[in-house]
Amino acid sequence: MKKKVVILGSTGSIGCNALAVIDALSSEYEVVAMSAHRNLDLLAEQVKKFTPRYAAVTDEQSATDSSKPFGGFSGTVLSGPGSLVELASLEEADIIVCAVVGAAGLPAALAAAQAGKTVAIANKEPLVIAGELLTSAARKSGATLLPIDSEHSAVFQAMQAGRPQEVRKVVLTASGGPFRNATLEEMNNATIEQALAHPTWDMGPKITIDSATMMNKALEVIEAVWLFDLPSDKIDVLIHPESIVHSMVEFIDGSVIAQLGTPDMKVPIQYALTYPQRRAGISKGLQLHKLGQLNFHTPDLNQFRALALGFEVAATSGSAPVVFNAANEAAVAAFLAGRIRFGQIVELIDHCLQAHTVQEHLTLEELLQIDAWAWREVAERLDRNTTIVN
Ligand SMILES: NC(=O)c1ccc[n+]([C@@H]2O[C@H](COP(=O)([O-])OP(=O)(O)OC[C@H]3O[C@@H](n4cnc5c(N)ncnc54)[C@H](OP(=O)(O)O)[C@@H]3O)[C@@H](O)[C@H]2O)c1
Repeated sequence: MKKKVVILGSTGSIGCNALAVIDALSSEYEVVAMSAHRNLDLLAEQVKKFTPRYAAVTDEQSATDSSKPFGGFSGTVLSGPGSLVELASLEEADIIVCAVVGAAGLPAALAAAQAGKTVAIANKEPLVIAGELLTSAARKSGATLLPIDSEHSAVFQAMQAGRPQEVRKVVLTASGGPFRNATLEEMNNATIEQALAHPTWDMGPKITIDSATMMNKALEVIEAVWLFDLPSDKIDVLIHPESIVHSMVEFIDGSVIAQLGTPDMKVPIQYALTYPQRRAGISKGLQLHKLGQLNFHTPDLNQFRALALGFEVAATSGSAPVVFNAANEAAVAAFLAGRIRFGQIVELIDHCLQAHTVQEHLTLEELLQIDAWAWREVAERLDRNTTIVN
């Protein structure tokens, strides 16, 4: 029996890599459902190649225009944001790959966890904002949450060398992004093109901007708190420009276990699909001798204020991560639309955190209301000081 996989966000960077992995493992895995938001041309191609039973278009407007690209598809077409929840809880599905971007993926990730599925999570934002809900739903249903994020996959693999109580700390590595050596002024005024020019990873636009601010690492610290049930003071971040050591775990005896590999998301995606086994992969092997050296240094928290804020938020529970994440999503969208300077992203996040009173133990509806509040707060602030750049 082939394992049946649902890919939420099949048209994105992670989604396409997941399909490439499944294509190579097609004697053991099949895609039963996939979703796109707006890229219907690519979805049509994917549907033709992988012949899933279901295809979903989550953007309502694109769904209205979807009849043409789906000509010839004999499966069921679903539409609207709610279709992700339907796909995530399909009776026949074994593995749900969560690869949509942002908090939009939360209801589906939660549905998959409640349905007891194997949930392969790339989409970190739901874990950041609703870690408590997701992990407790998984505990109740028996669902397995498996990380796809390369750092968390590395930690997950390294953790297998000891017991949870033997962990002294987890060290998440970060490339430092395109502004690793930039001055604060250069960063503040960076253009969209400069911010999108990631030195080592090829990813979607939102996570690429998050890597440039190091907000991505901040989100990953919070993600690690929930995935590995760790207090935030046991999580460190090290800049590692080569992106070869994907992260490490230090145990109480002083042993440090790291996972290394080329910067290629197909490796952690495949591990999440085949866990606890390994299969021959399609990614290039590591040739350490060609690299010569690997470098590590501590991040400058004055330069990367998003990371400093992230450590503060990770130490707080409740609604702070919701505001932190939503303000960032709204600010990154404004930056990519040319409405704000790069440096204003973190200013807007900071403003929203300060304007918010932290609340504890929230339901999904309450989380989503706070998420919407932070988006409104960013929009109102931008309307008050309309700074148009570029
Ligand atoms: N890319 C990486 O290497 C990487 C590494 C680690 C973690 N991650 C995480 O994985 C997630 C996906 O990242 P990505 O780089 O693959 O993003 P991406 O390339 O921008 O792809 C995002 C996917 O989500 C869909 N989508 C966009 N907005 C949506 C919405 N409102 N509702 C439902 N679907 C929506 C897109 O559909 P259309 O394209 O059809 O519009 C696309 O399929 C993010 O949470 C990111 O942090 C990514």
